[in-house]
This record gives sequence, C-alpha cells and structure tokens, in this order.
Amino acid sequence: MATDKIQNLIELREKARLGGGQKRIDSQHSKGKLTARERIEMLLDEGSFEEMDMFVTHRCTNFGMDKDKFLGDGVVVGQGTIDGRLVFVFAQDFTVFGGSLSETVALKICHVMDKAMKVGAPIIGINDSGGARIQEGPNALAGYAEIFERNILASGVVPQISLIFGPCAGGAVYSPALTDFIMMTEENSYMFITGPKVVKSVTGESVSVDELGGAAVHSTKTGVAHLRAENEQEGLATIRRLMSFIPQNNMENAPVVPCNDPVDRLDDALNTLVPDNPNKPYDMKEIITSIVDNNDVLEIQPEFAPNIICAFGRFNGVSTGIIANQPSCLAGVLDCDASRKAARFVRFCDAFNIPILTLVDVPGFLPGTGQEYSGIIVHGAKLMFAYGEATVPKVTVTIRKSYGGSHIVMSCKQLRGDFNYAWPGAEIAVMGPSGAVEVLQAKAIAAIEDKEERAKFIAEKEAEYRDKFANPYQAASMGYIDDVIEPRNTRFRVIRAFESLKNKRLTNPLKKHSNIPL
Ligand code: HXC
Repeated sequence: MATDKIQNLIELREKARLGGGQKRIDSQHSKGKLTARERIEMLLDEGSFEEMDMFVTHRCTNFGMDKDKFLGDGVVVGQGTIDGRLVFVFAQDFTVFGGSLSETVALKICHVMDKAMKVGAPIIGINDSGGARIQEGPNALAGYAEIFERNILASGVVPQISLIFGPCAGGAVYSPALTDFIMMTEENSYMFITGPKVVKSVTGESVSVDELGGAAVHSTKTGVAHLRAENEQEGLATIRRLMSFIPQNNMENAPVVPCNDPVDRLDDALNTLVPDNPNKPYDMKEIITSIVDNNDVLEIQPEFAPNIICAFGRFNGVSTGIIANQPSCLAGVLDCDASRKAARFVRFCDAFNIPILTLVDVPGFLPGTGQEYSGIIVHGAKLMFAYGEATVPKVTVTIRKSYGGSHIVMSCKQLRGDFNYAWPGAEIAVMGPSGAVEVLQAKAIAAIEDKEERAKFIAEKEAEYRDKFANPYQAASMGYIDDVIEPRNTRFRVIRAFESLKNKRLTNPLKKHSNIPL
C-alpha cells in the first residue's frame, strides 16, 4: 500500500474529527459545552469507541450548500462499551450547522439504530441541535420521521436513553420523548415544542428559555426528564450508572453484580422507624436504602411527583425496580402525576425483565375537583394496568396504610402480586378510620347535638374501626397477605421471595397489543 494513501486516510480522519472547525469547537467550549466526540469519549469505556460513517457528507445543493460540506455532517455515530457491554451511540455535533438534522444526519442515526436492534444492544443519543436543517426542507422532516419510527419499534426491545445537552426544539423533542429515559443538565439544556419567540407572537406570553423548557421545569413540573445533572460530566457518569441496572435487550436479564452485603443482614432501626401515630410522616427512602445491597439506590424522576418513589436497587446482586409511596410528601397519596410516573416505571421494568418490589404506605387517591378534572380516573388506571399486565416477579411489602382503590393498585395479591408481606403496623381497609366513621355513622353523628358528646362518639367509633382494621391480621386471615414480618427482617425476606421467583413463568393472552388507558 502506497504510504500516501495511508497518509491521506489519516488526514481525512483528522479533518473529520474537527467537525465544523476549531473556531466552532472553541465557541462550543466557551458555552461550557463539550463537543460531540468529547461526550462520547467520556460516556464510553476508554478506547472502546469505534466511529462509523465518518466520511458521510450532506447531499443538499440549495442556497450554495454544495460548497459548504463537513466530513461526517452534523452527527457522530458509532459503537463502544460501557463496563464492557456493547452500546450504540449518536451525538449531534453542534459545530456543524448547529447539529441540525439533514437527510444524511438522519441516515447515520438510523444506521446505528438498525445495528443496535439487529444485535440487541442499547441506543444512547446525545441531543444538541437547532432542529431540522432549514436548507433541506422536507428531506429533513422525512429524516425525523425515519428516526421516530425506529424509536417506536425499538421501544421495549432495546433500552433507549436520551441526553439533552443543548437545544432540542420543535418536533425534534419527540425522538427523546419516545425513548425510555431522558437526562438533562442545569445549563444549556432545553426542550420545547415552540421557542419563546413564537410563544410571544402567538400567545403574548413572555417566557425565558429555561422557564419554558429547562431542566428544572422538566424535572419538577412536567416529568419529561427522568434525571437531572449539574453538568455534562455528571450526566454522563449517571448514565453509566443507570446502564448497570438494565439489560442489553428484552431477551436478557440485567447484569448480576457480585454481592458482598450479607443477604441476612438485619436492621434493628427498621423496627422503630415508623411512628405509632398513623398520621405522622417518616422517610420511606430510609427503608429503601436500608434493605438494598450496600445501600445503593438510583432514583428515577426524584423531583417529579415525590409522593411516589421509583428507583433501581439490587437484592443479592439482582437489579430490581422499587416503587414506594412516600409518606413524607403529601402523605404518600396517589395523584395523577404519581400514577403516571409509577406506571411508566413499572412498564419499563416489565419490558426489560427487571423484578419489582413495591413498598406500600398509601392513604388513597387524592380527592377533589383538581384531580378529577385532570383525569385521576384514567391516570390511576394506568398504574393499575401496568401492574396487572406485568409478568416479572413482584414482591409487595405493606409498611403502614393500604386503603381502598390504592391498596388494589399497589400490587396487591389479587392483582398478580407474587409475595405479599406486611409489617405488624400495617392497616389494610377500605378507607381510613375517620372517613369510614363519617360514612357509616352519618345519621348517628347528626343526631348528637352536644359538641363534646359528638366528638366522644366519633372517637369511640374510630377506635372500634381501628381495632378491627388497623392491623394486617384481618387481611392475613383471608390469605391476602402471605406473612406478617418483623421490619428488621425485610431485606432477607424480600431476597428469599425473589430467589424463589427467579424461574417464574407467566404469560399474557395473545393479542395484537393491549389498550392501556393512555
Ligand atoms: C441549519 C442551523 C440551524 C438549522 C442553527 N443553524 N440551526 N442551520 N438549520 N435548523 C446554524 C446557524 O446558522 C449557525 O451556523 C450555527 O448553526 C450555530 O447557530 P447559532 O444560531 O449561531 O447558535 P446559537 O446562538 O447558540 O443558537 C442556537 C439556536 C439557533 C437557538 C438553536 O441556532 C436557532 O434558533 N436555530 C433555529 C431553530 C429552529 O427554529 N429550528 C427548526 C425547528 S422546527 P454558522 O455557520 O454561523 O456556524 C423543526 C421541525 C422538526 O426542527 C420536525 C420534526 C417532526
């Protein structure tokens, strides 16, 4: 081989690696952003990245574009490993036409998505783009549709993760929205259907980019973002951690990590963690961190609907999805946001063979017009549907309250809970004592004129009701609870239950697909 040909290849590669040129790279850095290649290097195991389609250039001739070409066009794509496991990646390159999506950018993204699907490996996309390449018109739009189609078909087959490290606007938001997890950073990261200028002209509303679609908004209000990081470095490290909890595809299990935390480790503190007064809050996260391996938990959407916790942890090295009501926030009530947050998490776990642990302390669904008008019926049904459809091993521990419809939704025995345990302070009933007495004794209460007498009567009736239902034994006597367990034994009992379920086989009736109440 003539050395000049090899030299030419080396030079072409060097040129391609410069993307839109040093000036634009400097501009990217000056905004506190990494370049597409720097991001990929940081995400993947050192030296594992193999780039593809480096010599692809755009095909547009409009507006003199034929004289303005960059090797690789506006996206860097390829494969590499995370902790030795294969992943496919694409990172939009803002230094080339603002990372805008051309026909060939779409082609490159589709190329890696197709490869990922063929071999059953996760797809990780890093978004930093001005949207559809304006000079290409409908070709750019067609490219988006090609990507969306692949996102949809890959859903539930291989995990898809999106990082938003720059602008992501217009229809472009729908590719990340179709994926399993979205990560945003504090600065430079925003997602919206229409930017502030159009908002102002159409509705008259003045709003900043961050107020409209920054990381804070999407992490707390909309629930669009699942993870939020201070900066890109932290975001990339978190995605590596997330990957350790999830499998390569729907035919495999998540990696099992050797467990050096004793499976029979007791935690005496759990015996006294829950206050005697059922109306007093406590932090459910203390229970979760206590029982998982090495207290290691990765919470998903921690700031959105914090009245329910969705997290990954491990039991004896096996990755597990944990769903838990949080009594320290809105008393752990189920509302629209909590229901849809948990429903999506249950479905992700079920799609990817991740067992589910449910920790229950729920007073019910949040009442009132606010919730009813927002469709609590349909959102609550999503969670019920997700649990009822899920075939992965499911263990439920009722920590304290479990009332009414919310008791059923939270993985009760009759809705396919495999092992259902309760702590001795659990209360399983149609509703709480005060609500029950108000309904059952309405006439009697109205008939008592004296205020003190009335209060005494109500207190007596509530105590009677509490005696009957404020314990797990009524449900246990019917076989609805498999066992009442000592709180400090929870880790061991949960691990043993999952161990016995590891060969669980359950299939749903054949159908084209279900009709989950979306
Ligand atoms: C072509 C684009 C581009 C685009 C940016 N550039 N967006 N080129 N098509 N969509 C180019 C700029 O011309 C510039 O080129 C370089 O990228 C960097 O852009 P700047 O504006 O200098 O950067 P910045 O100030 O950081 O602003 C970033 C930005 C802004 C906010 C994203 O560029 C912007 O508003 N772009 C247009 C966004 C937009 O409306 N896109 C269409 C959305 S609709 P030079 O040569 O100077 O470096 C859509 C439909 C999708 O996407 C439908 C899917 C179904």
